[in-house]
Amino acid sequence: MTGSYLNGEKRPQNALEVTGGRRLSGEVRISGAKNAALPILCATILAPGSYRIENCPRLTDVFTLIELLERLGAQASWDLSSVPLLDPPPPLFMDTSGLASFEAPFELVRKMRASFLVLGPLVARFGRARVPLPGGCEIGARPVDFHLQGLKALGAQWEIDSGFVDVRATGLKGARILLDFPSVTGTENILMAAVLAKGTSVIENAAMEPEVVDLGEMLIKMGARIKGLGTPSIVIEGVDELRPVSWKIIPDRIEAGTFMVAVGITGGELGLLGAEAGHLDAVISKLSSAGLKIVTGSGRIDVERSGPIESVDVTTSPYPGFPTDLQAQMVALMAYAKGLSVIKEQVFENRFRHVDELRRLGADIRVEQRSAIIRGRSRLKGAPLTATDLRASASLVLAGLGAEGVTRVLDIHHLDRGYEALDEKLRQVGARIERV
Ligand code: EPZ
Repeated sequence: MTGSYLNGEKRPQNALEVTGGRRLSGEVRISGAKNAALPILCATILAPGSYRIENCPRLTDVFTLIELLERLGAQASWDLSSVPLLDPPPPLFMDTSGLASFEAPFELVRKMRASFLVLGPLVARFGRARVPLPGGCEIGARPVDFHLQGLKALGAQWEIDSGFVDVRATGLKGARILLDFPSVTGTENILMAAVLAKGTSVIENAAMEPEVVDLGEMLIKMGARIKGLGTPSIVIEGVDELRPVSWKIIPDRIEAGTFMVAVGITGGELGLLGAEAGHLDAVISKLSSAGLKIVTGSGRIDVERSGPIESVDVTTSPYPGFPTDLQAQMVALMAYAKGLSVIKEQVFENRFRHVDELRRLGADIRVEQRSAIIRGRSRLKGAPLTATDLRASASLVLAGLGAEGVTRVLDIHHLDRGYEALDEKLRQVGARIERV
């Protein structure tokens, strides 16, 4: 079934139709973390052999990366046909024994900038890599200078050659690397190169995100020697070789936070099964101030909202601060709050694309430099909206859950990049939401 669109053009199902006003109630299973799965899949390049990856989320971005690894010569097997999307995924088997190429194809890297995470592992394994420079994206320029400075410090030479970064290294040597900014994938690329470098490396001002820690702990299980994961200073003793392992991916804290905001908007209560509260301190603190009742148990988080939504101010920052990946969702919540709130985005320079769309619902928001100033309204009215990037599309769907009438969110392929069955999960707990 394909949706018919504004100009009658036939397109595949790429829109969600949300009818607002329904409280949520029930339980949802939180999927594996996208931003842990992506670097972890790249880490399979570091040691030839067969890996078993549990709790890998079934996302477009993951499928793109698996395709990229297969193009490099890896063999993946993941039998998804026999498991319903709402059930936990079957294990993904990845064999990188047959890896033969070190050139990442342009058409795959352009689809997903996180493919740039193959760079460090390829250089570590082959001493060579050719990876297209990831272009900018909807949320900012997103250069990769920290990644390249780090590899250079480890002894690699790189040059830009017709849109590709061409890297060569005759053996990587340990080094001290100070990051200007605690870049998440910058830290991950450098970490994956340093584990096979000769000697000791230190990454100062390293990212502390749980996804970086999950990658690092898998590398340790593979035989790497790493200390300081989750702190600003990571020390790596290079080893000669690593071995393939089985690994279970941590739950997705951004998906969990997205569902917490959903309950904030609709009212009701949700049990988030598998969520890790320890990864969500800043989010739990802010949402509690906004009027949500949050109870954290072992392996689950229970969220409820029955009273008014209070306005709160938020400033995003690297972990353990409030995550930029939940900023757009927070703006949607504050659009319904009592009073004025200011949400400051300090990580990316252009991450307010959702604001213009939310204003189409009647939200009272204005952007000044890097802050959204929101005057909450008790009622918003459904309207057709266009998703621009992954987290913006989530915030539009959430806003639609609270708006009167129907909100149609177009270009919903952005959502499928980073959320496993978000519409099915929401429908399961009472939302009226259809893929059209
Ligand atoms: C990771 O992106 C995540 N992606 C992003 O999630 C997340 O928003 C971001 O970290 C911040 O938490 C993955 O992990 C795959 P950064 P990354 O390097 O590593 C600047 C999502 O929605 N910068 O920490 O690309 C950069 O421009 C995605 O799941 C440089 O200047 O983010 C940005 O302003 C979106 N030079 C800031 O640092 C560099 O070499 C943070 O970037 C690298 C980054």
